[in-house]
Amino acid sequence: MLLSMRAVVCAELGSVVVSSREPLEPGPGQVVIAVEAAGVNYVDGLFVQGRYQIKPPLPFIPGGEVAGTVSALGPGVSEPAVGTRVLAMCGLGGFATEVLVPATSAVPIPDALDAARAATFTQSYGTGLYALRDRARLRAGEKVLVLGAGGGVGLAAIQVAVALGASVLAAASSPAKRSAALAAGASEVIDTSSSSADLSVDLKTAARSWSGGGVDVVYDPVGGALAEPALRALGNNGRYLVIGFASGTIPALPLNQVLLRNRSIVGVDWANWLMSDPAAQHAQLTELLAMVAAGTLTPIAPTTAPLQEAATVMDDLLNRRVTGKIALLPR
Ligand SMILES: NC(=O)c1ccc[n+]([C@@H]2O[C@H](COP(=O)([O-])OP(=O)(O)OC[C@H]3O[C@@H](n4cnc5c(N)ncnc54)[C@H](OP(=O)(O)O)[C@@H]3O)[C@@H](O)[C@H]2O)c1
Repeated sequence: MLLSMRAVVCAELGSVVVSSREPLEPGPGQVVIAVEAAGVNYVDGLFVQGRYQIKPPLPFIPGGEVAGTVSALGPGVSEPAVGTRVLAMCGLGGFATEVLVPATSAVPIPDALDAARAATFTQSYGTGLYALRDRARLRAGEKVLVLGAGGGVGLAAIQVAVALGASVLAAASSPAKRSAALAAGASEVIDTSSSSADLSVDLKTAARSWSGGGVDVVYDPVGGALAEPALRALGNNGRYLVIGFASGTIPALPLNQVLLRNRSIVGVDWANWLMSDPAAQHAQLTELLAMVAAGTLTPIAPTTAPLQEAATVMDDLLNRRVTGKIALLPR
């Protein structure tokens, strides 16, 4: 048996090993992508630890987004042609030298986008555009407070908000994350490394002062102790975008703070949206890639690591040690 494919395999929850497997054969409507880079997302670590709401049957290969080159077409598929550079959301299976996806999921990428950037683009920027424009109805000139601003989702949100004409106050815990936020286009940063008691006062006061009375939108992928002061920092008709709970704590918020000033709390479930309306998500991705080609968005280069370091990388991501995005390079 020819074993020429290598993959990160989770055979028991909490650990992964890199092993060799048979090469993939595309079925009807599928293509094989020779993976050049696999984006690592917070959710990949949750899958491996069995802490995500969806629990894939064991064994499984984690990795939800990739970029590479189409290497084989299944029956009935004529495009994208073999050799086309593409990105794809694959859900699982991406931490490998090759992955199978429906041909319709393999989206050609502009030459300007290298594989590592392309593999870390779709989820973060897609969530940013969906949340800020479609859910919060962000308008040019508005002011946005981004929490967890030095993380993958946070940095993309900064770029998207700026591309939509808004200005951004970025909250992050380390000098490296705050520098990255400024480089991504934030106008101002706030240090969130202090104790939660100090932070409540500092974050609300700083955000109100920066925005001249109250921010228009809060973008929150963190939850925990930051949530209430951020809610209190919202001005009239402010919108609080619930993106995620990277802190591990789902906050309980006082609803009187939502009533006051006609604020709204807005849930964002990008994955649910793309599964319920794939055509809309495809159009969104086309638009985002056009913004890249036009220079309106310049995706930030991720840190890269070899496939063998998948376990360490997922651990770093779950434990706050990564600035921006990180990609595995399987080849
Ligand atoms: N709703 C959606 O559709 C959607 C889409 C994509 C992602 N998400 C979610 O968004 C969240 C952030 O994703 P991401 O890719 O930006 O993750 P990330 O790169 O790890 O960034 C998360 C940030 O959260 C902050 N944080 C505070 N306490 C933390 C803790 N105990 N552990 C880890 N991080 C902590 C950290 O910033 P500081 O160090 O500055 O505090 C960190 O940089 C995840 O929960 C993810 O599942 C949701």
